[in-house]
Amino acid sequence: MTNVYIDADLTDEERRARLYAGDIFLFSPTPASLELVALGRRMIEEAFAPHDPRTIHRHKSPAEVAEILAVVKPAFIHHPEAKRILPMIMAERGVDLDKLYFDVPRLRSAYPSHFLSSGIAYAFHPHRDTWYSAPQCQLNWWLPIYPVDPNNGMGFYPRYFDAPIANNSEIYNYYEWNTKSRASAAAHVANDTRQQPKPQAPVEGVSQRYIAPPGGIILFSGAQLHETVPNTTDVARYSIDFRTVHLDDVSAKRGAPNVDAKSTGTTMRDYLRASDLSKLPEELVALYDDGSATPDKVLYFGDRLAAGGDQGM
Ligand SMILES: [Fe+2]
Repeated sequence: MTNVYIDADLTDEERRARLYAGDIFLFSPTPASLELVALGRRMIEEAFAPHDPRTIHRHKSPAEVAEILAVVKPAFIHHPEAKRILPMIMAERGVDLDKLYFDVPRLRSAYPSHFLSSGIAYAFHPHRDTWYSAPQCQLNWWLPIYPVDPNNGMGFYPRYFDAPIANNSEIYNYYEWNTKSRASAAAHVANDTRQQPKPQAPVEGVSQRYIAPPGGIILFSGAQLHETVPNTTDVARYSIDFRTVHLDDVSAKRGAPNVDAKSTGTTMRDYLRASDLSKLPEELVALYDDGSATPDKVLYFGDRLAAGGDQGM
């Protein structure tokens, strides 16, 4: 069973234990989360000016929007302010910044489904991030930039947290994906031909939607089955998300149970320590390597083109 906590006052350790057991946490906006959302909002509003980014599909073609996103999404990922604010959000949640490692924050968009839902604005089918080489201890933090609607936000299938579903995640190797596919995300406007891990059986039921206000946070295990809800509203949804791992859990190999993920490679080299932006010690990364990493394929945080249409939600 998945319990949903709202503004729960727990220690980080207790919270992580519950997240690894399938619980989901919602947080009200805080000064730092609002600052991060304001940064994203400012960047997309400048990029789409004079139009409202939420209704840009009424003014521009999918190709034109994709072209703008191909600039603004990487700019957000690499924005120094984003790296400054993320640790503040962690600190506000009582996380020990010396033990917390995070991946670059992503800016996401979900347009009305008839408009643009591939390539750089890929609409994520139900998936676990662990099907994309994320470790079982990865936590996902998701923040809407504008008010969200149940029909353009995130959906969860908590019943699959501890139940397997047939999937083809064995096709996914993180290093191959980075080198072959990611750089071309902006080119996939009409449809996305990149092979991605997907359920190979019908997903039962409809997804649960948790609606957070702008700057609010949905925090969940990367092993949760989740999706981009097909946007049936007439406005675009913009959100920010990032992933974290905790040093103690990385070294102890703690995390959510792996019920069905078969991807290879690991995203462990992507995380930077919140206190000083250092990488995880290589001997800890080695705990997660499966032999598929070769020197010419392994990419580190900052090396990536990060075109924005990458794995996520
Ligand atoms: Fe995801």
